[in-house]
Amino acid sequence: MMNNVPAHNPAGWRNVPATSKPIDHAKVKKLLAAEWKKFSAATGKSAKHNKLASKTLPLGVTSSFQHWDPYPISIASAKGAYFTDVDGRKLLDMSMGFGAMLVGHLNPLVVSKVKEALDKTGTLFVTPSPSATEIAERFKKRFGLDMLRFTNSGTESTMYAIRVARAVTKKKAVIKIEGGYHGGYDPLQVSVKPALADIGPADAPIPDAPIDAVPGTVYVVPYNDLPYLEKIMKEHSDIACFIVEPVVENLSIILPDKGYLEGVRKLCDKYNIALIFDEVKTGLTAGVAGASKRVGVTPDLVTLAKSIGGGLPVAAFGGKKKYMDAVVDGRMAHFGTYNGNPLVAAAMTAVDELCTPEALAAAEAINTAALAKMDAIIAKYELPAHTIGFGVKGAIIWSPTPVRNYRDFKNTDFLMAELSWLWGVNRGVITPPGLDEQWLVSLAHTTADMNKLVGEFEELAKAVRS
Ligand SMILES: Cc1ncc(COP(=O)(O)O)c(C=O)c1O
Repeated sequence: MMNNVPAHNPAGWRNVPATSKPIDHAKVKKLLAAEWKKFSAATGKSAKHNKLASKTLPLGVTSSFQHWDPYPISIASAKGAYFTDVDGRKLLDMSMGFGAMLVGHLNPLVVSKVKEALDKTGTLFVTPSPSATEIAERFKKRFGLDMLRFTNSGTESTMYAIRVARAVTKKKAVIKIEGGYHGGYDPLQVSVKPALADIGPADAPIPDAPIDAVPGTVYVVPYNDLPYLEKIMKEHSDIACFIVEPVVENLSIILPDKGYLEGVRKLCDKYNIALIFDEVKTGLTAGVAGASKRVGVTPDLVTLAKSIGGGLPVAAFGGKKKYMDAVVDGRMAHFGTYNGNPLVAAAMTAVDELCTPEALAAAEAINTAALAKMDAIIAKYELPAHTIGFGVKGAIIWSPTPVRNYRDFKNTDFLMAELSWLWGVNRGVITPPGLDEQWLVSLAHTTADMNKLVGEFEELAKAVRS
């Protein structure tokens, strides 16, 4: 217990300083205004590109989370840990495709295996192929699954995992975490990042569904709250599954309390509810066998995407035989034209070869060293902030107290988070555009790269305290 806050699962990193001093928000606003001016001066071609793209693509982007106001930076190419933008600037990529580029941009092994497939194998058969079977066998072993199927995106994987859970339990309702994001399937649109005014009290959250979704029955629970989870499970007999990121990586990073996931596992068993761990963002960024193995709790079904594909559009769902048998016997028929095609199979095979325990441990050590340097800066400048990390991912949380759920997250200092992000962007260090994301140390990042992130963070601390 720290300030009455329960300890977190020991697999994660969280370092909250004992003392801090408030930040002068008038100064933050002044700095932000100056940084936005700087941004506009350096990104003329991105502005022009966004104006042109917006005539054809809504917001000028191919996915709405690529957009930010007034316009995002447009990238011309990427290699290793670096982007080149349309203004010709070399930028350190600390977002790495939200984790999809874990092995680095244009990783040579990914490139050579995909090229080999293009030269010799083919691009799509829509019939079985040893290339898909071989990588399925590797992932089955690596992630400890009885069976798995490939899909083309995290959205498809979470949708099919829920449908498998319904087919097996013969129940339909879904439990999800307040604030949690799991892609575009209708039940998962409920309470994604809802406005606090719309969702009632913290101890009895009201589900909030957008008009465009037909979600069915969805119960929303706060993360890290076992008593409330049990209350919902006890009160309702129609629940098929509980879907949750084992470590929440769509609200910066929120670690499970010590014992939380073990408690979730027990409750799901008690009430005959399928436990789905959404590992679209954790996956190999959490360690060689994903977050489930790292935290020591086995779900019934798991969804994987991003980090398993080396940047190609591929994902998977899989898990226990009891559940995957529903795909075998057709209770939940799973289809898809492009599933597990030779190009993505080649990329996944390269990722599997690259993501050795040694390679991932080396990247994690670089991350941990950077987090420790950030801690020293937070202490030196008495910032009301703390570091958080899991595997090769990390973030600064602008709060002097730990964040354990969505309401805590909404209580963090978003103005400071915006300044911190923009400060990096203007100094050639690109962390993800949403303030709810985290950085990623890929296999291509070095300590020198991380020192750039640490260095600009110290400059920011100095400016805020000057
Ligand atoms: C936890 C989680 N689940 C599912 C998805 C959806 O994945 P995709 O964008 O590949 O459809 C995302 C995307 O960011 C995610 O973060």
